[in-house]
Amino acid sequence: MDNKNTFTITDNRTGKSYEIPLTDGNIRAMDLRQIKTNPEEFGTMAYDPAFTNTASCRSAVTFIDGAKGILRYRGYPIEQLAENCTFLEVAWLVLNGELPTEAQLKAWTDEITHHTLIHENIKKLMEGFRYDAHPMGMFISSVAALSTFYPEAKNVRDAEVRKAEIPRLIAKVPTIAAWAYRHSIGQRYVYPDNNLSYTANFMNMLWRKVESKYAANPVLARALYVLFILHIDHEQNCSANTMRAVGSSEADPYATTAAAAAALSGPLHGGANEKVLRMLREIGHKDNIPAYIERCKKGELKLMGFGHRVYKNYDPRARIIKRTAEEVFEVTGRNPQLDIALELEKIALEDEYFVKRKLYPNVDFYSGIIYQAMGFDTKMFTVLFAIPRTVGWLAQWQEMITDKEQKIARPRQVYVGYDQRDFVPMEQRTS
Ligand code: CMC
Repeated sequence: MDNKNTFTITDNRTGKSYEIPLTDGNIRAMDLRQIKTNPEEFGTMAYDPAFTNTASCRSAVTFIDGAKGILRYRGYPIEQLAENCTFLEVAWLVLNGELPTEAQLKAWTDEITHHTLIHENIKKLMEGFRYDAHPMGMFISSVAALSTFYPEAKNVRDAEVRKAEIPRLIAKVPTIAAWAYRHSIGQRYVYPDNNLSYTANFMNMLWRKVESKYAANPVLARALYVLFILHIDHEQNCSANTMRAVGSSEADPYATTAAAAAALSGPLHGGANEKVLRMLREIGHKDNIPAYIERCKKGELKLMGFGHRVYKNYDPRARIIKRTAEEVFEVTGRNPQLDIALELEKIALEDEYFVKRKLYPNVDFYSGIIYQAMGFDTKMFTVLFAIPRTVGWLAQWQEMITDKEQKIARPRQVYVGYDQRDFVPMEQRTS
């Protein structure tokens, strides 16, 4: 028998057969279009709400095997990167495809460090928000506003422009994030300190009070860059897909990143870490866990920080975060929420409802507990996700822009509304 790399699809309406080629084991949805009962028909489409089985791109950035709980950036296991690299080192890898040499890393670190300042007018814009504005809303709006300061950024097809705007964005998002936080606690904004590392400088801008030089605790600064590394990219999730879709219209990278951040802010995506902490507070005590689990099983609530579209075994990031938590607690003391979280995880993992649906803790389940122990306000959790994810968004954006197969993202629909009907004058309308 010939081993052909094709499918044969038989249309039982017409009896006609079509040979459909397979590329990387998949069919191209456009190859279905030829299947029709008469030449006037539009042709067959693939219907896939929420894209649960649709590959929208070919990507070399991140690999996930959800069944085995594997996550790799550019081929390197996340565990090895989190153990051995700094955040900016992994950022370079994700953006450029290879780990940087010493000279490349030095130049890259200098470049990022020298773009951390933001225009005073952005500061004024941020000062205009209400005293209780959510930092994520401030983050999204301020990143979008940067677009007006760099009009040349709209030339997205120009490789030199992309090369200039990518580090600018990566450098400026911690400043915006920290200032959004300082605004929410009514304290003066702290300017970046170019002598500190990416994460230590971020902590400086968040927490410096009257001291002339901020000294970040090295264990906490390391924990933060481990957390940042884990959050850099996660292939075609909701916000990466938004980045690609919005970027495909050739909107500039600031507007596009703001759109991706907006997608991240929802509670089913990056907003989940904040919701986990609120959930743990609501549960309050281990004794209340069984009743809470029952409400989840009845569909009244979702167990926040549980479940994933892709991981059906365990989220490898959650495992690393759990380990990092131990290092953090040695410095900060144990977060009492951890006991509730551990017990919740134990009960949920034994419960048939969760086992049957393959619902495991995801990255957001434990990250909030560490963030809280480190002194981060709950409202900042999703912003903490957005800072490193900016790197992933930009890597996805760059790959999309340079991919000859990509065009403006424009899905089809299956129209289920009325067929044509005639206009009804106001006096004849009944309801
Ligand atoms: N608690 C209780 N039941 C759940 C949960 C949960 N957290 N997640 C999924 N289920 C149930 C769901 O009701 C469904 O049950 P049934 O088959 O009886 O209808 C089944 O499990 C399959 O769920 P789904 O909604 O089809 O799965 P999905 O792939 O569409 O959704 C998810 C994935 C992450 C949005 C969802 O699991 C969820 O809402 N989790 C809670 C929010 C959360 O933690 N989000 C963070 C995700 S990881 C980081 C990130 O992306 O930012």
